[in-house]
Amino acid sequence: MEQFELTADGLLLRPWRDADAPAVRDALRDPDIARWNPQGGPVDEASALLWVRRRADWSAGDHVSLAVATTADDELLGSVSLHQIRGENAGIGYWTVPAARGRGVASRSVDRLTRWAFDALRLHRVELCHAVANTASCRVAERAGYAAEGTLRESYRYGDGRRHDEHLHARLASDR
Ligand SMILES: CC(C)(COP(=O)(O)OP(=O)(O)OC[C@H]1O[C@@H](n2cnc3c(N)ncnc32)[C@H](O)[C@@H]1OP(=O)(O)O)[C@@H](O)C(=O)NCCC(=O)NCCS
Repeated sequence: MEQFELTADGLLLRPWRDADAPAVRDALRDPDIARWNPQGGPVDEASALLWVRRRADWSAGDHVSLAVATTADDELLGSVSLHQIRGENAGIGYWTVPAARGRGVASRSVDRLTRWAFDALRLHRVELCHAVANTASCRVAERAGYAAEGTLRESYRYGDGRRHDEHLHARLASDR
């Protein structure tokens, strides 16, 4: 898969690079991100660099992972990624650094990457799962056009060590 950049209303969605590692380390230590995007262990400088390099390597063709930054000065605001790209389906995940929350960063990024996936990859369905307790993520899904389809019971173990019920949302290419 060839790497690319997208823009959306003052946001730059671009491939990850090594220089992002310190900001990623800080972001992954945020309690909300650690809870809802668990990394499976403590986050230090070295693991943050590995995290960035895994996401910068698109060679397997099964994911598209982008840093979300300001177009003005490339300040890191968040992360958005398509994962498990198989056939016409994929999943989507995201986080926003604490200082940039509540400004539409996640919902605009999810919408932009989803539209790219329908247009460029010709995907038909993208799924989004979040813990029922994560109400902010539910709003992101709704704002980004992902219809709620149901509740998955105790479907994923999050960073608090508990299995949580999750809402399954999805957006179809034909929804537009
Ligand atoms: C969930 C998260 C990604 C939202 O990012 P964001 O950039 O602040 O989201 P947006 O600004 O696009 O907000 C989208 C909606 O969520 C709402 N929202 C944001 N934070 C909220 C909160 N703490 N509680 C309730 N609603 C919240 C916004 O008000 C907005 O809703 P509105 O349209 O009714 O105003 C961010 O809080 C985060 O990174 N949390 C920790 C990690 C996480 O939950 N990742 C997702 C895992 S599924």
